[in-house]
Amino acid sequence: MTYKFGLIGYPITHSLSPWIHENFLKETELKGSYSILEINPEDSFTEAMSNLKAANLDGFNVTVPYKEKIIEYLDEIDEQAEKIGAVNTVLCQHGKWIGYNTDGIGYMRALLNRYPEVVIDQNEPVLLLGAGGAAKGILHALLYNGYENITIANRSLKRAHELAAAHDTINVVTLEQAEEELASYAIVIQTTSVGMKPHETDQVISLKNLTEATVVSDIVYQPLKTALLQEAEQRGARIHFGHSMLLYQAQYAFEIWTGKRPEMDELDEGLKKQLEG
Ligand code: ATR
Repeated sequence: MTYKFGLIGYPITHSLSPWIHENFLKETELKGSYSILEINPEDSFTEAMSNLKAANLDGFNVTVPYKEKIIEYLDEIDEQAEKIGAVNTVLCQHGKWIGYNTDGIGYMRALLNRYPEVVIDQNEPVLLLGAGGAAKGILHALLYNGYENITIANRSLKRAHELAAAHDTINVVTLEQAEEELASYAIVIQTTSVGMKPHETDQVISLKNLTEATVVSDIVYQPLKTALLQEAEQRGARIHFGHSMLLYQAQYAFEIWTGKRPEMDELDEGLKKQLEG
């Protein structure tokens, strides 16, 4: 069998997903291709979806700005994806489109792989910085993995409260409070776009109260070592890079499509090198 995969979104010409999935195909010794299928928001999405149906893919990824829009075109949706309200992976099987969200689970896999000792203890207090789409995926994966001691800090408290409504044990604080109480968290997960190129000197909070016991994780991967991670490292904390979420969400998508789980160690190093330029 020769697999046909793809990615829909806009703009996606610089996406790293083809490189990742082509490596997965090689690694698992499967035949196939992964194409960029850019859909301009000015064009008809419905027409693009009927063309996509006709293309007979085995599966595709969905990225910004279509992760929510795709839902009405699905035949089925996985429970987690439904809770999150966003789909990043579609399995095309027997003419049906089934939607999944691999972002949060991918993030948990990446963290577990890097810091298994931290992830095992689900009573550890977790601080989530941000309350947007990325935070939502990670929050649901944390809850799914049994974490309940979660605090959300966000610039807009209204948005943080809306996200916190997902579970009655979740706390909400301001970014300033989070900064003050930083020493009380075992893991800090930065999910906003703050610090991303070309604003690489920006930081969503200062880490002046950080202790060495905390793991600081940033989902931004351009640059690989964000200003936040640089400060965390200077203060002696363990750091977790954002590129691994990209890799592990792709690994889980590939598994949904093919039933095979590719090995990651070499790819992890390869992607890191690419991002470091
Ligand atoms: P994504 O899907 O990538 O998470 P999003 O849903 O637009 O994108 O969410 C962006 C997140 O980054 C939000 O938490 C946003 O905070 P607000 O809810 O207060 O807007 C946060 N964010 C973006 N720019 C920020 C900034 N300059 N300072 C603080 N938070 C910022």
